Amino acid sequence: MSLDPQIIQAVALLAQGDVVAIPTETVYGLGADATNELAVQKIFKAKGRPSFNPLIVHVLNRQWAEKIGSIPPQAYPLLDQYWPGPLTIVVPLLPQTTVAPSVAAGLQTIGIRVPKHPLFRKLLEQYGKPIAAPSANASNTLSCTTAEDVAKSLGSKVSLILDDTFPCEYGLESTIVDFSSPIPRILRHGAISQEALQLLKAPEGPLKAPGQMKRHYAPHLPLRLNVTVPHPGEAFLNFGSACPQETLNLSPEGNPEEAGRNLFHMLHTLDNPVRFSGIAVAPIPNKELGVAINDRLQRAATTEDTP
Ligand code: TXA
Ligand code: MG
Repeated sequence: MSLDPQIIQAVALLAQGDVVAIPTETVYGLGADATNELAVQKIFKAKGRPSFNPLIVHVLNRQWAEKIGSIPPQAYPLLDQYWPGPLTIVVPLLPQTTVAPSVAAGLQTIGIRVPKHPLFRKLLEQYGKPIAAPSANASNTLSCTTAEDVAKSLGSKVSLILDDTFPCEYGLESTIVDFSSPIPRILRHGAISQEALQLLKAPEGPLKAPGQMKRHYAPHLPLRLNVTVPHPGEAFLNFGSACPQETLNLSPEGNPEEAGRNLFHMLHTLDNPVRFSGIAVAPIPNKELGVAINDRLQRAATTEDTP
């Protein structure tokens, strides 16, 4: 079996401590060898990410995960259902792990996920070591679901962007569930809805993964939400048939999964100060994946730069 030349190149770059942009089934990740401290630091530098914000470690399977974190028995039913896939678990970090210190950003816990995207899996198989990867975008700006958007967001800061022939099927980041204390909690709404997770409730009040600043996922243009009548000059991002006058439509049929898949790329496309004065977005029902979409939109629209 001959190997994809871009996988060979990615393996060589990872081995020499470089960062590589990798498509996942959620969004593009900016990956480095999770066991190489200097390589991990390059991720923080390329993104302009504060050092207190921990990274998710991507592994090929549960056996790899068990060498990094202490996974409690109550997590296994969810792993059976969602790994490989868009579920990140936060668990106590094992003291003997080979994962580099900056990955956990000084915490006693670690975020781990087993990605499903075939290219990422092939890379993990060939590289044979865990890969730390945040979303591949400049810190606090729009996440990316296409190679072109990664190139726009990070430019020359990344040596290789793996191609996106097989797309980011969900388009929204993974759902993060914290299993580090006895009662599991959702830390970030994401590609698996709270309804699908069934047994888990989100805590009251805003969710608090350490890096989830109030302002996050932000485009350059101002963003207005729950709009049915756009202002002159604004791009209008429609959902269903909220308004007949649209620039783009997240999902003409009003399907939240399709909207999730389209969200970041459409925002990247509309984020053009030469063409528009701002971006107005139609209301999106706040249930199922709509919760994760609205979380992204609210953070993108806020001007408060606080955790
Ligand atoms: O779908 C995804 O999760 C994508 C792909 C590339 O895997 N990754 C991603 O990473 O969204 P990032 O770094 O953009 O967001 C990860 C979030 C951050 O808010 C971070 O603070 C939180 O996960 N996180 C990571 N490790 C954590 C930990 N030990 N405890 C609590 N939150 C953690
Ligand atoms: Mg991110």
